[in-house]
Amino acid sequence: MKNICVIGSGYVGLVTATCFADLGNKVTTVDIDENKIAKLKEGVMPIYEPGLEELVERNVKADRLNFTTSYEEGLDDAEFVFICVGTPSAVDGEADLKYVRSAAETIAEKMDHPLIIINKSTVPVGTGDWVADIVNRVQTEAIDFAVVSCPEFLREGSAITDFMNPDRNVFGSTNREAAQKVADLYAALNAPAVITDIRTSEMIKYASNAFLATRISFINEISIICERLGADVTEVARGMGLDKRIGPHFLQAGVGYGGSCFPKDVKALANMALTHGMHPQLLNAVMDINDFQRKQIATKVRELLGGTVENKTIGILGIAFKANTDDIREAPALTIMRTLANQGANVKAYDPVAMENAEREIRGVTLADNAYDVAEDADVLVLLTDWNEFKQLDMARIKGMMREPLLVDGRNIYDPDAMRELGFVYRGVGRGYNGEGVANGHAAHEDMAPVAGD
Ligand code: UDX
Ligand code: UDX
Repeated sequence: MKNICVIGSGYVGLVTATCFADLGNKVTTVDIDENKIAKLKEGVMPIYEPGLEELVERNVKADRLNFTTSYEEGLDDAEFVFICVGTPSAVDGEADLKYVRSAAETIAEKMDHPLIIINKSTVPVGTGDWVADIVNRVQTEAIDFAVVSCPEFLREGSAITDFMNPDRNVFGSTNREAAQKVADLYAALNAPAVITDIRTSEMIKYASNAFLATRISFINEISIICERLGADVTEVARGMGLDKRIGPHFLQAGVGYGGSCFPKDVKALANMALTHGMHPQLLNAVMDINDFQRKQIATKVRELLGGTVENKTIGILGIAFKANTDDIREAPALTIMRTLANQGANVKAYDPVAMENAEREIRGVTLADNAYDVAEDADVLVLLTDWNEFKQLDMARIKGMMREPLLVDGRNIYDPDAMRELGFVYRGVGRGYNGEGVANGHAAHEDMAPVAGD
């Protein structure tokens, strides 16, 4: 049993705190948001994360997990303090570290015994050293501390499973003993530990997320080529992914990556390279392709509607940036809905859990009660998040409710042949041949001659 303080009770902090408590530690979560803490004390979750509520309840009952707005209370008796505050993008793409700075300053002001300070937030390379400088500067008397980087690799929607079954954990510090102590907190999980210096650890996080984003942009670029040449990207990805050197993960073509991590992390890494005089060509391409992918969806809708969306009703299924979360930060749906609404469409949308967040964020979009309400009198239906509940909708009923049977499947969750049999005009992403794609202006299956260059 260790005494742990976690600063920040968002998607990462709350999951980290709860999982450490579940492993038998005594954890206090500190957040400056009084409302959030008050709700947590009443058992109300500030985020949607499968399994979290039950786990929080169990650990609160067992008196292993507490919530407070007071740093003094959080740091009291703590041996470890995890910084899990947000690090959003600043205007020029670099990570905005104001919350990390504020957390580090307050820790330095309030600490009255030695501490291991752990950066879990994703922070630019060099931030660990910067945090150590802040603590040294702010402390009124010199109390021993060490800074360790221990990046998070938690996917929203499966964050608890990711915490409990990690592929690896990474610990970076100039103080090897401190890094080992943090690694010991994770020892029960039996995952490989990478113990390294602090800057390397910080870079492992950026490089991992940038690589995953690169795979997504890669398959999205392939999807565009597939569409033109009459191939099906879902089968291409399967065929590629069975090669052990490639692997099957993060090869789903779609509407582009979103969320609180990939967009800001790729941007921040590119910015780090740029500010050090380098030209991050690959990262720039990854971002360009991702933007293009979102635009492509709006283009497909426009094309299906004969060139204009004006006064047409467009039904959107899914707003969250991915399934199993209520998070709409950088969600492709936001950009796509805004584009269509700006072009004069009536947009209505539904998401199983992101409606409250959507209501706060989006103007000019009607929010519907369920998928069937979205379909009612719609000229085109656009699927943007691959929630399970959209996979087996009564599509015959949906078609009957729509003004036109036009379907854009931004996540390739429907079978193109089955949709066509139902009478839909179906457009997936990168499904050239099976999905009625267009090659050189003709339906792909009518134009299967070898492509120029053969
Ligand atoms: C995290 C990481 O910090 C980010 O770097 C990573 O890349 C993605 O995940 P996340 O948990 O998604 O961020 O952020 P958010 O859900 O916004 O939660 C941050 C919490 O910190 C909020 O509850 C906020 O109130 C709290 N906070 C913020 C503090 O307690 N103190 C502060 O000074 C600022
Ligand atoms: C990511 C990292 O995976 C995780 O390790 C941590 O650093 C936080 O950030 P998260 O953003 O929650 O997790 O979700 P993830 O499953 O990685 O998906 C990110 C985005 O990529 C989503 O918009 C998703 O829909 C998209 N995606 C993912 C694809 O478009 N295709 C894929 O094959 C996989």
